[in-house]
Amino acid sequence: MFDFQYFTPTKVVFGKNTESRVADLIKEFGGTKILIHYGGGSVIRSGLLQRVTDTLQAAGISFVTLGGAVPNPHLGLVYEGIELCKKENVDFLLAVGGGSAIDSAKAIGYGVVNEGDVWDFYDYKRKPAGCLPLGVILTLAATGSEMSDSSVITKEEGLVKRGCNSDFCRPKFAIMNPELTMTLPDYQTACGCTDIMMHTMERYFSNGGNMELTDALAEGLLRTVKKNALILRDDPKNYDARAEVMWAGSLAHNGLTGCGSDGGDWMTHKLEHELGGLYDVAHGAGLAAIWGSWARYVYKNCLPRFKKFALNVMEVSNAGTDEDIALRGIEAVEDFYRSINMPTNLRELGVNPTEEELALMAKKCAIGVGGAKGSARLLDEAAMLEIYRASL
Ligand code: NZQ
Ligand code: ZN
Repeated sequence: MFDFQYFTPTKVVFGKNTESRVADLIKEFGGTKILIHYGGGSVIRSGLLQRVTDTLQAAGISFVTLGGAVPNPHLGLVYEGIELCKKENVDFLLAVGGGSAIDSAKAIGYGVVNEGDVWDFYDYKRKPAGCLPLGVILTLAATGSEMSDSSVITKEEGLVKRGCNSDFCRPKFAIMNPELTMTLPDYQTACGCTDIMMHTMERYFSNGGNMELTDALAEGLLRTVKKNALILRDDPKNYDARAEVMWAGSLAHNGLTGCGSDGGDWMTHKLEHELGGLYDVAHGAGLAAIWGSWARYVYKNCLPRFKKFALNVMEVSNAGTDEDIALRGIEAVEDFYRSINMPTNLRELGVNPTEEELALMAKKCAIGVGGAKGSARLLDEAAMLEIYRASL
């Protein structure tokens, strides 16, 4: 087992009607002037935003609002949010929505308390020295941003999508009411389940040391999401399935399923971020479209883990060689994606890049990871291009 640090400062308030406690939580963490940040309008249509603003008003907490965070959230709105916070003396951020609204709020938080251009942190030029405190009301179980140290932003110029990681942006509190996810389109629910599983799989497929307990947690989480994703496909209003998936989403990306690993692989995410930046696809669907090609490219270099995953998570038969079992596991993941209407290649994702575009994505991806990255197998630019080609 490798040494590790496990830091999860977020207070989780989970269950029905928990959004009604938002004012008390903001007060508990010292917020006096709030920016409520949200996405393209789902929180208006569901009535959630109105309920939140009514609650704050009743509690005498003053606030301003800023909507418009798009999926693959844009840097331009982050700049707008920073200016608004400075002008209004905002001292606490409240993100209401999915990963995009949360990530955009985190970026605003960095921009308010740090001098200079906030993009520097996403361009790996500098590290942030702080972040405005933030709380979350989650409406989409997927990214785990409600507990994670991560924020992913797209710079419109050049369509560059990059992440910034630091403990400063971990939310102070996360309100998680599974009922709030019941208005999601089925596609977004399935994208969310895919992303949750991938956050654990990125940590699982590593050539790191022994992780017996961490593996058991990871495998249990993956089986749980797999099972409940199918329940939600057939019964989207199933509260218990929503709740299982929502809690799994937070645990999949708060660090728990990586304790003791070498840091994990993360190349499916890096390859997907280029797709998201260039083609604006839903993150979870992009991951599903690329994973099979990545897995077939790397599995021989990480065979014991692929075998263990195939047996303990995908529950395939133990017959044949280790390679047979590993490949059956990969096929079973793709069958599962198909069963929840996720794509398993770029065509099914709805994008058809030219050879030049594939080369551009591989180049940007290699730059983004500083040349080469991956624990299951180290990938350089040429390897990235091969995986993109195989995923057509
Ligand atoms: O924008 P609105 O109108 O709210 O609609 C959203 C959006 O269209 C809609 N939605 C959200 N909750 C809803 C709802 N519609 C109906 N009812 C609800 N309850 O769903 C659509 C997608 O929302 P978005 O926030 O973009 O999705 P997600 O949570 O998957 O976030 C994706 C972004 O997070 C990044 C991704 O790369 C992508 O940019 N990630 C962030 C991570 C992190 N911060 O830790 C880790 C991830 O690996 C990921 O990279
Ligand atoms: Zn993800």
